[in-house]
Amino acid sequence: MGSLSQTTEETNDLILPPRPPNLPHAEYRTPRGASPLESVRAAGLQYPNYTPFKLPNLTTRPFSDKGLQSDPSKSNLLSAAKEVVHLTPEIGTELTGLQLTALSDVQKNELARVVAERGVVFFRDQHMDVHEQIAFGAYFGDLHIHQMAGIIPDLPWVHPIYKDETAVNGRSHQIWHSDVSYELQPPGLTLLKMDTLPNAGPGGTEAGGDTIWASGYALYESLSPKLRAFLETLEAKHSGLEQAEKALRTGGCLRRDPIETIHPVVRTHPVTGWKTLYVNENFTKEIVGLEKRVGDAILDALYRTVAEGYEFQVRWKWTHNDVAIWDNRATYHTGIFDYFPHLRHGLRVAPQAETPYLDPKSKTRKEALAGEEGRA
Ligand SMILES: [Fe+2]
Repeated sequence: MGSLSQTTEETNDLILPPRPPNLPHAEYRTPRGASPLESVRAAGLQYPNYTPFKLPNLTTRPFSDKGLQSDPSKSNLLSAAKEVVHLTPEIGTELTGLQLTALSDVQKNELARVVAERGVVFFRDQHMDVHEQIAFGAYFGDLHIHQMAGIIPDLPWVHPIYKDETAVNGRSHQIWHSDVSYELQPPGLTLLKMDTLPNAGPGGTEAGGDTIWASGYALYESLSPKLRAFLETLEAKHSGLEQAEKALRTGGCLRRDPIETIHPVVRTHPVTGWKTLYVNENFTKEIVGLEKRVGDAILDALYRTVAEGYEFQVRWKWTHNDVAIWDNRATYHTGIFDYFPHLRHGLRVAPQAETPYLDPKSKTRKEALAGEEGRA
């Protein structure tokens, strides 16, 4: 097992990020290969764990997307897959016959490009323990630690996705969102491994808890050119305050000062160069510089487009140990809460990406692809 040092920790052959110095339950260690859901509870600790501890506020840090180092053909990754199954025209691809832990750095860089292009990529039956998942995620950028969500005490970079019979306040449906968009550098590539699925089907069969993703590229290019031109002049305020207040109100913890951040309403993806819509109902509070009622009307119309644009969506029915890797910059997602009171559990890691920006020279996805065909 690793040491308690604050420096980079080696866990057998894996190099994990440096642990923050004041984590709770310093004596606890998740064994290699173990399910944290079981091992944390076996140690007599709350799971996910909400014991308060403080982290320094986040500041801007360097980031370069690994996808920029990849060959646009992505041939090292795609030729290694048994099958490449595109699930819808606009979003979602399944790669079969691959284990993420066996990918080379060249293939990981290409994976970042495939995820950037297709929005979300799925892998079934992944033999990847939580330590390997952390090391895999950390390859792509500094892992985000959530301001208030429950954690695994010794592995704070992991965000447990957890609901059971105690989720009495859970919504019957969740809101379409992009994760923690209030941060200065919200996560890009995001990796979720689902290990426990709800037995919510008829007669206790396994069903429920699917996740849906929607393509921000496709949503954006579906809007009229005049509206797109207007949206490109706008910025919006994203806020973590409501989430922070809820944490304090419900006996949770708050690890950093909650923040509000201004991001462009339309952002450019650094790898694809495509424009994507970047406002979401969970965290975007207002459009800067417009009358509140006008800004809210525009946001409502955009949120409705996200929710009702079925042709821009892909729905995934999880099986055990599936991994979904999505690009949190260019997609929206929502988990379907149709399984109360059953247990659903997965583990998410989220490398932080660049500060959102709009390159005025960037194009919509279809404009860019049409340009490439024109040159071919
Ligand atoms: Fe989410």
